Amino acid sequence: MPNSLRSVLFVPAANTKALAKAPALQADAIILDLEDAVAVGEKDDARTAALRALSVEGWKPPIKAVRINAFNTGWAEADLLAMTPAGVDVLVIPKVESAAILHRVRAVMARAAQVPGRPLPALWAMVETPRGVLNAREIAASAAGTGLGALIAGTNDLAKELGCDGLANDREALRSHLAMIVLAARGYGLKALDGVYNAFADEDGFVQEAKQGKRFGFDGKTLIHPAQIGPANTIFGPSEEAVKRARAIVRAFKLKKNAGKGVINLNGEMIERLHLQDAQALLDSLPVLSAKPSSGSRKGKKPS
Ligand code: COA
Ligand code: MG
Repeated sequence: MPNSLRSVLFVPAANTKALAKAPALQADAIILDLEDAVAVGEKDDARTAALRALSVEGWKPPIKAVRINAFNTGWAEADLLAMTPAGVDVLVIPKVESAAILHRVRAVMARAAQVPGRPLPALWAMVETPRGVLNAREIAASAAGTGLGALIAGTNDLAKELGCDGLANDREALRSHLAMIVLAARGYGLKALDGVYNAFADEDGFVQEAKQGKRFGFDGKTLIHPAQIGPANTIFGPSEEAVKRARAIVRAFKLKKNAGKGVINLNGEMIERLHLQDAQALLDSLPVLSAKPSSGSRKGKKPS
């Protein structure tokens, strides 16, 4: 089972207190942010602080990521040269509008210092501009050549660029864009992560939006505050009901009378072998999800 990405927390690299908390949090992934959460005058210090935080031993979150600055800012190259050999699993690239940007990222990474035996970080692309959404398919299709592993919906930037109210009426104005991002990710075997919920003190609002993201097909949600981790892990993890149903499906296909059948009747519902595959995948994921997320204890591959 691939790594689960239920909860993916942004941590501003310029915030010393937040940075110190990151290694002990129960998130599936942490993204140390060098971009929008860091003021212009703090960029260099934030990069140094991120490197220091990454060198701390015993991180609980299984995936360590860093979001670099966008290419048109002048900081991206220094970010990439510093972070490529720094032991991160993933580099998050903001404002990706084409596959060409990801190829440029790879070219700079190839010039960075290499640590023998340490694989290059995977890339996750933030889709957060109108052109990014329009080109989501091309971006996702570049995965084999760019090491792209996930698309992230950047809903704050997208709403700003579109001039829409992204939060009104259950994100009505963004629904087609979010669906495009999930579609592109799924079409090319990538993970899809939903955007952040800004009102971090509003747990009910967060839960509602996270459940909507789950219904849309996202694997998890990007987060801005530690209080959002627990709810995200619950909502994007398998529900008790889903586990019960998966067990029933697997059991039913094991019955002698169903051996070799492509489709069966389970309590008045048509169940096909594709449902069996989903059920088995869900059950296979259980030990991974319930294991304490210490870096050494996870099964499965790093994201690629
Ligand atoms: N990661 C780790 N720790 C965090 C955190 C985060 N994203 N957000 C808050 N915390 C910590 C705080 O440092 C604080 O620690 P303390 O109790 O030792 O003082 C604790 O959690 C409680 O924080 P709280 O007082 O509720 O919020 P705040 O005013 O400190 O921070 C924000 C609020 C929005 C500024 C902060 O959550 C944040 O910067 N989030 C991430 C923003 C970001 O990365 N944006 C870019 C991507 S969209
Ligand atoms: Mg953004």
